[in-house]
Amino acid sequence: MTIYSTFGILGIIRKVSVILLAILLALSYQAIKPPPPKICGSSGGPPVTSSRIKLRDGRNLSYIETGVPKDKVLHKIIFLHGLDSCKYNSFPISQEVMDEFGIYMASFDRAGYGESDPDPNRSVKSNAQDVEELADELDLGSKFFVIGYSMGGAFAWGCLKYFPHRLAGAALVAPVSNYWWPNFPSNLTKDVFSQEIVRDQWAYRVAHYAPWLTYWWNTQKWFPSSSLLAPHSDIFSTQDRDILPKLAGRIHNKEQARQQGEFGSLHCDMNIGFGSWEFDPMDLQNPFSNSEGSVHLWHGTEDRMVPVYLSRYISQKLAWVQYHELQNTGHMFPLADGWSDPIFKALVTGNQ
Ligand SMILES: *[C@@H]1O[C@H](CO)[C@@H](O)[C@H](O)[C@H]1NC(C)=O
Ligand SMILES: *[C@@H]1O[C@H](CO)[C@@H](O)[C@H](O)[C@H]1NC(C)=O
Ligand SMILES: *[C@@H]1O[C@H](CO)[C@@H](O)[C@H](O)[C@H]1NC(C)=O
Repeated sequence: MTIYSTFGILGIIRKVSVILLAILLALSYQAIKPPPPKICGSSGGPPVTSSRIKLRDGRNLSYIETGVPKDKVLHKIIFLHGLDSCKYNSFPISQEVMDEFGIYMASFDRAGYGESDPDPNRSVKSNAQDVEELADELDLGSKFFVIGYSMGGAFAWGCLKYFPHRLAGAALVAPVSNYWWPNFPSNLTKDVFSQEIVRDQWAYRVAHYAPWLTYWWNTQKWFPSSSLLAPHSDIFSTQDRDILPKLAGRIHNKEQARQQGEFGSLHCDMNIGFGSWEFDPMDLQNPFSNSEGSVHLWHGTEDRMVPVYLSRYISQKLAWVQYHELQNTGHMFPLADGWSDPIFKALVTGNQ
């Protein structure tokens, strides 16, 4: 072989390597870049089947209303659903409690979920603005309650931050806490974080440090992704396992939740929930200093999806939060019939 042909082969190898690298980069870009959402009501997108309001930036927000007839309403509530969920997964309330306290409740698809348009500029603040605009469009008056469950609980802190003057009270139920809120002592977050399932630790780290990778991380098949998005039996407590069959009829709501795509809904939730917040809830002041309302935090000690310890710490820091820690209780307790009545009662009466 002459020296010239050796160079020739090296040159070809080099060219082929460059081409392969380019193909690899293009493929990984494709894998990292989320596909565009399938917007509800657009051609090829899912149909619009429920009422929607138009928001400040032209987005549509979908909602449903339940409760007593308008002339009997005494307490108005807006419900914020959790991760991978939708407006149909609000807490069931018994007819007795609804009638006794004159409860009306609106539940909406948070941006990107169900039939609400995705918001490319979503944030904790924009979510709070969506809630306030919904209240105004539905004529809920100057004061209303919010209930936030799980990831919706994290966003309920946003309501307390951005429009406390509009709130009659708030209930945060098994709320997600962000390990990177600066007021958490690092020994506590380290301890609690290390108890999370390893795949979830990675999903949270990716959401916090590399949100541009969240779509890929949670759709790739090489490593186990978040157990919250691809449920895994380890995250259900004994009580959750008992409750699951009762929720069977509502499971189809999962398909509703993700129908416009996983990125604008689930992944965006992860990125915002575990991202860098504009504020730390533990810095909030009591919005009801003259006791015309109350804030409740509920958490089960057996919650394996959202560990109780961070809620417990928050309750110690914020003396104005009424903390209800429930023994032998998992994450899903309020979704089963009858279990959530105490939450509604405490919220609208302001009592334990
Ligand atoms: C809101 O819905 C209308 C049709 O109902 C649609 O024309 C419009 O594009 C939607 N807005 C956004 C931001 O997708
Ligand atoms: C997102 O925010 C940017 C900057 O504020 C704005 O220019 C853009 O129009 C927004 N996009 C949408 C879809 O609202
Ligand atoms: C963290 O440290 C503080 C004091 O430095 C201590 O009181 C607390 O118990 C520790 N918490 C944990 C979870 O180790």
